[in-house]
Amino acid sequence: MPKRTLVTAALPYANGPIHIGHLAGVYVPADMYVRYKRLKGEEILFICGSDEHGVPITISADKEKVTPKAIVDRYHELNKKSFERLGISFDYYGRTSSEEHRKVSQEFFLHLLENGFIDTKEEPQLYDEEAKMFLPDRYVEGTCPVCSNPDARGDQCDNCGTYLNQTELINPRSKVSGSKPVVRPTKHWYFKLSAFQKDLENFIESYAGKWRDTVVQQARSWLKSGLQDRPITRDLDWGVPVPLEGAAGKVLYVWFDAPIGYVTATKEHLPDNWQYWWAEDKDLEWLCFLGKDNIVFHTIMFPAMQMGYNKDGSFTYRLTTNVPANEFMNLEGRKLSKSRGWTIEPHEILDRYDADIIRYTIACNLPESKDSDFSWKDLQAHTNNELADILGNYANRTLTFVKNNFDGKVPDAASDEQYLNSIGEAAKEIGSLYEKCRLREATAATFDIIRSANKYFNDHEPWKLIKSNRDDAAKVLRTCLEVLRAVSTYIAPILPNTSDRINGMLSIPAGKITWDNAHLALLTGHAPLGEIKVLFPKLENEQIEAELTRMQEMATKAEQQTAPVVSNAKITIDDFKKIKLKTAKVLEAEAVPKSKKLLKLQVAVGDERRQIVAGIAEKYTPESIVGKTIVIVANLESAKLMGIESQGMLLAVNDDKGVVSLITSEKESSDGLEVR
Ligand code: MF3
Ligand code: ZN
Repeated sequence: MPKRTLVTAALPYANGPIHIGHLAGVYVPADMYVRYKRLKGEEILFICGSDEHGVPITISADKEKVTPKAIVDRYHELNKKSFERLGISFDYYGRTSSEEHRKVSQEFFLHLLENGFIDTKEEPQLYDEEAKMFLPDRYVEGTCPVCSNPDARGDQCDNCGTYLNQTELINPRSKVSGSKPVVRPTKHWYFKLSAFQKDLENFIESYAGKWRDTVVQQARSWLKSGLQDRPITRDLDWGVPVPLEGAAGKVLYVWFDAPIGYVTATKEHLPDNWQYWWAEDKDLEWLCFLGKDNIVFHTIMFPAMQMGYNKDGSFTYRLTTNVPANEFMNLEGRKLSKSRGWTIEPHEILDRYDADIIRYTIACNLPESKDSDFSWKDLQAHTNNELADILGNYANRTLTFVKNNFDGKVPDAASDEQYLNSIGEAAKEIGSLYEKCRLREATAATFDIIRSANKYFNDHEPWKLIKSNRDDAAKVLRTCLEVLRAVSTYIAPILPNTSDRINGMLSIPAGKITWDNAHLALLTGHAPLGEIKVLFPKLENEQIEAELTRMQEMATKAEQQTAPVVSNAKITIDDFKKIKLKTAKVLEAEAVPKSKKLLKLQVAVGDERRQIVAGIAEKYTPESIVGKTIVIVANLESAKLMGIESQGMLLAVNDDKGVVSLITSEKESSDGLEVR
């Protein structure tokens, strides 16, 4: 059968907008790879979709008092749209809440059951008698048995990092009702992962030295600790129902059904031909693009599920042939965190920035071998110094020269074949980097070609030649145009929009050109060129600073809003007494530059002076607040807001649009008094 490659990108949870970390870890590299392969003329299928099950989605739904379906509908559409705007060229984008997916997942489950790889066990679990439900791990909190942290979660203690079993929590409390759950036995279905220990070891070792080291190492370390059977069902009413009698209220665990989503999406896209992309065949490759937190599911769990399915020989699934997992991308030197408001979401920035600028900055910083960083200053530098000054400049000077000296028509002259061939050779090298998924290097090498093209233009000094020898000048410009045409192909995996725009300026229809023939002269002498447009306007410092300010404000807002998920959990009087509230008199106030929301206050708290930064500028002018006696949290750890130290926090009434009014003391004169 023909050589072909199935490329899947990890299905993002439809529980929120995708962020720039996802783009760098998964979607930009996957799309670059796929676009390169298409230019090579190879058969490719690029599959993705929304992962729409799991507890985080039901928690979001509870929090917003809407159904899980409302949540996933919202984010499925939003993320799908973002991917389109970014030029991520999926052949199909499915969703795991589809009816087809229910069928495919249930069939997979029943098939494994028949083949003897699923059995049941009864285990104690926490049950909320008020809410009448078994509690998933993230719905329980309690005291950590190891470090006594009072806020450990049912699956893990964030303080000491211990993985916990929910029944080990001391004084557990339900996040649903706030009540104390009881222990009750419940039945679950388990996948016999342990049965695949040997087969998986052979599978992974067969790829040692071929896959990324980080991926093989992680898989090995799981295998080394010995595989345990795993529960693959949950007590929830959101998910794929367990297709058996007596299984009411049980659904498949999200990590059981999600990878099956790749199969479902293929079936939905190609109902009659999906086997072409899934049946075991030496000519079929399957590459899984994903972030490092997904490695175990794609190198151990799902391969084991497929092995179990394959056992009876009725259908033999292709196992993955490569998992080019990436590390993480940080943001401005800090770990990306949605809950801390430290994130960049494409749907927010695509109105202000060309998608190609974002793609390029990410491509230059792909976290292929270690964590990397995204910063606005870096985006500005890549845009101005490379996209504008190298690529934009090359296109502009070449096209403008032809416009001014050759009547805007392709000079009818022979091109410098030697130079074009050297570019073809460079492209071959770049191709082999793509094949090895070394996409960061491929990006750098692509820009080296454009640098060399600028040098070619400079070295041949056409502005002098045009006066002394018009034919030679024609030859140089013809060559430069051919190189520009070739370059527009080579940049296409990284900068698809820009590639189209360059083709437009050269008046060549996209399509026929392939990676391998792009360096061979293809333009026609005397053909008129299109209108010349600036490819990349430069980014100004003010614009970049505004982005940084925006990020700081988001982080501040998130900090102010960190309320517990379910706020009706009770606290004791002792908990309350831990918070020292005091009156404070505002002595001075001033606006924080570049911030619409923040005021910097100097306050007196008895004998003490403090500086407090507060998000009240939209409601209070500095003059209107000086002299007021306000209430502050006096024992809050100090924090920096936009680089300014804040020693405490003031209390104010907020609605969802911001501060409405400050809490003040009626007796305006006394500061430093306790508030109880
Ligand atoms: N939703 C998961 C995550 O964002 C990834 C699922 S990948 C799949 O981490 F294989 F399950 F589809
Ligand atoms: Zn702990």
